[in-house]
Amino acid sequence: MAEGQFSGKVALVTGGGSGIGRAAAIELGKQGAKVGVLARNPERVQATVDEIVAAGGEAIPLLADVTSQEALEGAVATIDETWGRLDSVVVNAGANGVWAPIDDLTLDEWNQTIATNLTSTFLTTRAAVPLLRRQGGAIVITASVNGTRIFSNTGATAYSCSKAGQVAFAKMVALELAQDKIRVNVVCPGWITTNIEEGTIHRNRDRIKVPVEFPQGFQKLEEGPGSAEQVARLMAFLLSDAADHISGSEMWIDGTESLLIG
Ligand code: NAI
Repeated sequence: MAEGQFSGKVALVTGGGSGIGRAAAIELGKQGAKVGVLARNPERVQATVDEIVAAGGEAIPLLADVTSQEALEGAVATIDETWGRLDSVVVNAGANGVWAPIDDLTLDEWNQTIATNLTSTFLTTRAAVPLLRRQGGAIVITASVNGTRIFSNTGATAYSCSKAGQVAFAKMVALELAQDKIRVNVVCPGWITTNIEEGTIHRNRDRIKVPVEFPQGFQKLEEGPGSAEQVARLMAFLLSDAADHISGSEMWIDGTESLLIG
């Protein structure tokens, strides 16, 4: 058994089959949590579960689409049946969707991005709260620098609005759920190496690109993208008792990228 500050606790991680969610599930497993790994791709979800188990932890796969209320409630019910509690939730599943000029982006594409990133945040939190309320707990939501500090990725309008909405959502429910001893915080990562570009559609962005250039290069802290593991360590901190006075806060994790670019 993996021992650590989450020993005896149970976590749910959405988008746990890839990127930041995968790293968060593995980090929480390493620190002793039993982890429900939720995403859509069965092979990737199982690979994360296998990695946690191989390291001496405990995990189960949960296949669900985070835009489905029924599927999320089913996943939380499985956690309850398996372990009888839920302490920590990483609301992380998301996608870039279509990045395109505003008169090119269709209503369906807009709705899809909002559903995948923002409505899913509502649905995941809604499904988890009854279990979290039993003993208290913590939620961390993955937003982004886009929509919170960076507004120059022209075409990423639906994505940025979904991410800004997640921050407002977190603040609203942080206050509401404080009486239940449930904390809610947000991480806003900059560019992180993951699989997110796999599902991203860039369409006609050249038409609206604002010609802002940084000839001296990217942020100087690391001169490149951050890693999913760096974000996972911040998430583990925000979910831990070490962060017991932090709720309703957003934390940027971007090596100064958003201060430079804006
Ligand atoms: P990723 O593509 O590697 O992982 C996304 C995960 O979410 C996958 O497991 C995928 O299956 C799951 N997912 C997507 N839509 C889903 C749905 N409808 N139902 C169930 N699962 C679904 O991407 P990454 O980068 O790890 O993304 C995680 C979060 O981080 C997203 O919310 C993204 O917006 C955010 N983010 C990523 C940044 C980056 O540079 N990679 C920067 C800032 C925020």
